[in-house]
Amino acid sequence: MTKRDKITIRSLLDMKKRGEKIAMLTAYDYQTAVLEDRAGVDMVLVGDSLGMVVLGYENTLPVTIEEVIHHLKAVSRAKLRPFLVGDLPFMSYQASVEDAVRNAGRLVKEGGAEAVKLEGGRRMGPVIKAILDADIPVMGHIGLTPQSLHQFGGYRVQGKDQKSADKLFEEARFLEEIGCFSMVLEGIPWQLARKITESLSIPTIGIGAGVHCGGQVLVINDLLGTLDEFAPRFVKRYAELGAVITRAISEYIREVKDGKFPDEDHSYSGDTS
Ligand code: KIV
Repeated sequence: MTKRDKITIRSLLDMKKRGEKIAMLTAYDYQTAVLEDRAGVDMVLVGDSLGMVVLGYENTLPVTIEEVIHHLKAVSRAKLRPFLVGDLPFMSYQASVEDAVRNAGRLVKEGGAEAVKLEGGRRMGPVIKAILDADIPVMGHIGLTPQSLHQFGGYRVQGKDQKSADKLFEEARFLEEIGCFSMVLEGIPWQLARKITESLSIPTIGIGAGVHCGGQVLVINDLLGTLDEFAPRFVKRYAELGAVITRAISEYIREVKDGKFPDEDHSYSGDTS
């Protein structure tokens, strides 16, 4: 594959075969999508995490399908080389199979997604099958699934004991068998993630699931360090942009207050008195 080839499901499956890691990031706006594309990311996810890092919700549960579509549209206008996945938010696919297909269709038709992601394993079987029957590719998501926050009683690492690890392993096998092209493994021990990854022919994308997954995903704001709220152990900050932005804004404020901005270089001059 040459550097500029559009990434498709086929290329992702080839990467899995070659043992090449897949780099995935979230994006919620045009500018970030362009920068991620330029940097060479393989997959972009407009995740329901947008509720927390962009819209200021306490968790992902209030996010609506309209909000995801709004941000997906901005990202897809970047005409990305990376493969673009749209997240189905809480209650956009749980109540009925019809809802699920209609909302998955909206992410593709209105938002420009190339695939949808949804949380859950075997219990989501009928929903996943119906979306696939509408020719919409599905990415699974198991482990610490944030939409099950209240069911879990908090954000807890899943699959730590043998019984729950075996269940997650079985869920992963199920997602591959039903036809998902990939799946997110979130918040599970690396040993379990490795076992799942090695047993599947589709790529696993880890977040808090160790290094042995077929690829990794991070929330872009966490990677860039734009917010300095609590970050879980798996988050690695590759920059401290929050501090850089605050410094730049403070300097602007100071110069405005001191009458130093705009100076002559940043002003227009004319012949009028
Ligand atoms: O919403 C999201 O950003 C996600 C990823 C972190 C996997 O689901």
